[in-house]
Parts: sequence; C-alpha cells; structure tokens
Amino acid sequence: MDKIIPSIIILAAGVGKRMHSDLPKVLHKIADKSLISHVVDCANALNPNNIYVIYGYKGAQVQQACADRKIFWVEQAQQLGTGHAVAQAMPSITDDAMVLVLCGDVPLIKPATLQALYSKVDRNSLGVLTVVLDNPKGYGRIIRNTQNQVVRIIEEKDADPEIKKIKEVNTGIFIIPASHLRRWLASLKNDNVQGEYYLTDIIALAVDENLPIHTTISHDMYEVMGVNNRQQLAILERHYQSQQVNQLMLGGVSVRDPARVDIRGTVQAGRDVLIDIDVIFEGDITIGNQVKIGPHVVIRNAKIGDNVDILSHCVIDNVVIGAGCRIGPFARLRPDTVLGTQVRIGNFVELKKTIVAEGSKINHLSYIGDTEVGSDVNIGAGTITCNYDGVNKHKTIIGDGAFIGSDTQLVAPVTVGAGATIGAGTTITKNTPPDVLTLSRTVQKTISSWQRPTKKLISDN
Ligand code: UD1
Ligand code: MG
Repeated sequence: MDKIIPSIIILAAGVGKRMHSDLPKVLHKIADKSLISHVVDCANALNPNNIYVIYGYKGAQVQQACADRKIFWVEQAQQLGTGHAVAQAMPSITDDAMVLVLCGDVPLIKPATLQALYSKVDRNSLGVLTVVLDNPKGYGRIIRNTQNQVVRIIEEKDADPEIKKIKEVNTGIFIIPASHLRRWLASLKNDNVQGEYYLTDIIALAVDENLPIHTTISHDMYEVMGVNNRQQLAILERHYQSQQVNQLMLGGVSVRDPARVDIRGTVQAGRDVLIDIDVIFEGDITIGNQVKIGPHVVIRNAKIGDNVDILSHCVIDNVVIGAGCRIGPFARLRPDTVLGTQVRIGNFVELKKTIVAEGSKINHLSYIGDTEVGSDVNIGAGTITCNYDGVNKHKTIIGDGAFIGSDTQLVAPVTVGAGATIGAGTTITKNTPPDVLTLSRTVQKTISSWQRPTKKLISDN
C-alpha cells in the first residue's frame, strides 16, 4: 500500500454556544495555546499535503491567532453542518488526495493515533476513529451489523432509546478518499432533526457502494474528547498538564506534587532538578542540573544554569541565570536580565534589563534597571537606580568590586568606578572615581538643649 500523505481539513466554523463567550470556541486555550493551534500543530506533525481550516464565526480573529502557521483558509459563511463544512474545501482538493477530517475543538488528538487510522485505508475504503464511552450522551453512535461491520452513524438527536444505549461513538475524525468524498457530499440531505448536512451520513453512502469502512478505536478518551463547555476545557487542561509533568518526572525531575505544577510551553531540564509546589512555567525554559525551584514561583522564557537555587515567591521573566546563583525569596527578575555565575539576588529585589557579572550580590530591597553590574560588587539594601527621567531611560554602570552602601540612589546616566565605595544614604549624580570613598550626606548634628514636647493638660474650667 502507498504511504498516505493526507490533505487535512480542520472544522472550526462553529460558534461554540455552550462556552458563553465572546471568543470563538477554538480560540479558548489549553496550556496557553489555542485549541485550534493544538490541532494545527498535530496536523503539521503528519507532514500533510495541505491544511485547510474551515472558519466562520469571528473568522478574522481565528486567522490572526494562527498567523504564524501555514494554513489554507476556507470560509463557511453559514454553518449548515459538518458535511457542508467539509464541502467548502473540496474545490481546492484533487481527486487523488486522501482527506483527513479533524475537529478544531478536539485539541489533544495525537499524530500516532491518526497514523494508525489512515494506515488501514486505501483509495477504495475509508476510516473512522471511534471511542467507547461509559457516558456516550451527545455523540453520534456507531451502528454495526451482525458481522461487526460499521453500517452507519446516527446522531444523538436522531437516535431512538435503543440506539442511545450504544457506547461506541464517532469522534468526528475520518480519513476519506477525495474522489468518493466529493460524490457523497454532493448527495447529502439535511432531512434530520437538526436540519444540517451531516458528514456522518457518508458512512451509509459508502456502505451502499460496498466500500469497506475501517475503524480505529481510541483507548484514550481525553485525546478524542471535544470541548463544548468550560468544564470540559478544564478537564482537558488538567489532563494535558498531568501528561506534561509526567514527562518531566520520567526525564529525571523530582516534582513534590505533580498536580501543582503547570507547564504552559516547554521545559527541558537536566538531572536531579527539584520542583516544589505551585510552580508555573511559561514559554520556553531550559534548566540545568541540580537546580532547586521553591514554592510559588513563576518562570517565563528562561535559561537557568546548573546548581541554581530559586527560593519561594520569585517571578522570573525572560532571564538568563548563570550557574550557582541563588535568587529570592520574593525576587522579581524582568526581561533582558542576565546573571553571571554565583550571583546572589535577595528578597524584594527587582532587576530589569540588567547584567550582573560573576559573584555580585544584591541582597535586599533594591531596584536596579538598565544597569551593568561588574563582578564581585556588593549592592546594599535599599539601593535604587533612578533610570527614568520621565521621558527617557538612562544607563548605570557599576565597576568590578564596587561597594554601594545602603539606601543609595544612582541617578542615571552614571558610572561608579571599579573598587569604589559609596557611603550609605548617598545620592550619586556624577561619575565616581575608582577605589575611593564617595558620599553625599549632610553633617550630623546633636542639639543638647532640645526637649521632647509634652502633652498639654486640658483644665476642667
Ligand atoms: C459531531 C458529529 C458526531 C460526533 C461529534 C464528536 C456530525 C453530524 N456529528 O457532532 O457524530 O460524535 O462531532 O465530537 O458530524 N462545524 C463547522 N461547520 C458547521 C458545523 C460544525 O465548522 O456547519 C465544526 C464545529 O466548529 C466543530 C465541529 O465541526 O469544530 C463539530 O461540530 P459540532 O457542532 O460540535 O458537532 P457535534 O454535534 O459535536
Ligand atoms: Mg462538538
């Protein structure tokens, strides 16, 4: 049998009424990625001929959300049913194609399952992916004859009580030779309870022509589960998260509670990483060996070196952290911050667009922005870079080995020389020379004659 390269049609024109949302259903997200993007990425993993997405309700928004993916967009102006939706793409598809139909609201479908489905078919047969559900309510039922061959699909709304007892259901996913599909779609009727052109009716038409119908039964109900309401969306989110976390653990990461870690992107981790509870990863993250991530930490797009210790309640966003650093608790590292090795960032410290070289320490209550900090610098508690004049941002440079006393303001643009010491409480407005003490401070005085005021006594008369 020839290797099949499918042409893929993804149905995504529906409104998704039961979401009660201003967003089209397929733009709701699992792990911060839209449902339609999950399906398109699965489709792309099959190296298809083309991917056609049938759009309708708020189509411009759907197109915008998938702007970075190669898709042929096909409009279905009126939603007249799944058969009608597929028919909209057929003018662009040649007769020799094998058409794989996917649903934009079935986000966790896996490429391997689809390959298993279409490995069974040829140009004179078709395949349908089914699943057996304890509670099949709402789905189209698979009707088989006494030889166990599929003879038709009956929608829930058109089913009598006996049919409703059938637990094998249609997932909505099919592989169908284009030449036959075109002919069958042309003869679909909408004489059913919903008044729609059902794609599912092509099964009976194929049976009439004696074409074999192959089924693949999915054994993972989550991968074929559709999202019709927000409860189902949450169920699939949790399932997806548990899969992601399992993969991390199988790769050698210890996770204190797999139910309390979310991965909304990709995490690549080294050996003996330990992740505490309530940690959220977003975007692309790489983590070295022996890294510890404390509780209640959010990390977005970061590269974390070996032996880094991130203590509780840190927010780390687009940052590179060198080996052996210790961050937090309660630190906020903002975009374009790069830490060298063995850097210490302590509690209530905010860094923005700042490079900190090896061995430097910013341990307490500081804001350092648009700054280059040299190596072995010590920045005292309460140090602030005044980097913004209300219009423009300015840069601060602190040389190697400098010591910045507590409660210093560095009014940028300004350079502190290497080895310089800045006295506590200083406001630096000019560049300071290296290796010497600079401070700005009013002279301390003592007034011996001063007396504390006392409370006035209020007399009775
Ligand atoms: C459909 C199947 C049902 C199956 C179920 C699996 C039909 C008639 N029924 O029912 O057998 O068990 O999926 O989830 O096919 N859509 C369009 N244009 C339309 C109508 C629908 O693009 O005119 C899209 C929807 O956006 C959705 C998909 O097709 O992504 C399925 O449509 P939906 O209305 O959810 O069909 P179900 O009633 O769930
Ligand atoms: Mg549905």
